[in-house]
Amino acid sequence: MMSAAVRGASDDDIQNLAAYYSGRKCESTLTAERQATLSGQAAASRCVACHGANGVSSNRAWPNLVGFSKTHLVDALKAYQGGARKNAMMAGIAKDLSDADSESVAAYYANASCK
Ligand code: HEC
Repeated sequence: MMSAAVRGASDDDIQNLAAYYSGRKCESTLTAERQATLSGQAAASRCVACHGANGVSSNRAWPNLVGFSKTHLVDALKAYQGGARKNAMMAGIAKDLSDADSESVAAYYANASCK
């Protein structure tokens, strides 16, 4: 499905799509009330400056975490720790996370999706 759609797209189409998705408004389901009920909130306090307490980043340089599964989040953190994914900011943050911290923040952000 996806590859068929992308194959027919021009570079301009792709630019437009990228602009559309990065600028798309997302109202996160991870509301302040919901955040307060989650045990991962403390561990996630290291992430909120960039990724937002609700998984929506305040700056486009930082990806939103809304919509990712817990598995994807844990795998991404492991990839930064192991060097399979390279990013200076995330490598610095991921290296200080214990496995339990990673599980905890991943469980927290897995609650976030766009309404
Ligand atoms: C100083 C800003 C900053 C902080 C703090 C930060 N991140 Fe990130 N994060 C980034 C940037 C920049 C990227 C994009 C890196 C890349 O291109 O791979 C990223 C990417 C990610 C991704 C990959 C998303 C994807 O596309 O698969 C995950 C998962 C993630 N961060 C989780 C976290 C968690 C969990 C924390 C807290 C423990 C955290 N980040 C703290 C800046 C930050």
